[in-house]
Amino acid sequence: LEWAATESRYQGLRVLVSAGPTRERIDPVRYLTNDSTGTMGYAIARMAWRMGAEVTLVSGPTSLPEPLGVSVVHVATASEMERAMIDRANDADVVIMTAAVADYRPETVLEKKFKKTQDTLSLALVKNPDILSQLRDHMKPRATLVGFAAETHDHELYARKKLREKRLDFVVLNDVLEPGAGFGTGTNRVTVYAADGGVTPLAQADKLTVAGLLLQLIRTGREV
Ligand code: CTP
Ligand code: CA
Repeated sequence: LEWAATESRYQGLRVLVSAGPTRERIDPVRYLTNDSTGTMGYAIARMAWRMGAEVTLVSGPTSLPEPLGVSVVHVATASEMERAMIDRANDADVVIMTAAVADYRPETVLEKKFKKTQDTLSLALVKNPDILSQLRDHMKPRATLVGFAAETHDHELYARKKLREKRLDFVVLNDVLEPGAGFGTGTNRVTVYAADGGVTPLAQADKLTVAGLLLQLIRTGREV
């Protein structure tokens, strides 16, 4: 990558990124979550700052250090992430939602630790709010909205559906079954679908490099 050419590409811009999983409480000692480590979102936040942006990172629970120069807002549940993102969306020129938001949460959060009195147990879940779908309504007219799509099958079909239904400028497709892509790997290989119909497969690389390519593509509409 030729960083000299991209260094100041984000000068004067505000970038809002979400990252990590969400954590949905069952009782005081248990919760539901997923395999997201937050690495891709943290890499995007770090790289956007290096490219000159003023960056805010809304992060679910991760074990990653706060990126240099980035303002980090820590949240746990999808509802907390929803509030944090909606409150900040109107300030941003670019919003990138990489978080693996839990699709469901327990219907009730128990105040006391659940005791194992039953032989079988079913947990009632309710759907969480879709954060990304709401963000367009809270953003400045020409701001850029980017989502991720984690898919195991019919990738392109679902990616395009998310692009359209969530009113995105770009959707970044992750094949979560592919080795060297997605959750818990140091590298990623993604394909970017643009609202104007453009399709750009990015080379497999470490997540920081992918973050740089992605930020470049979002800004210029083309590869480096
Ligand atoms: N997303 C969100 N709020 C949710 C669920 C997802 O903002 N409650 C965002 C994710 O951050 C991602 C995009 O929507 O940018 C797509 O997430 P994904 O899990 O791939 O799709 P879903 O819309 O949740 O649909 P499904 O899991 O059924 O494929
Ligand atoms: Ca989902």
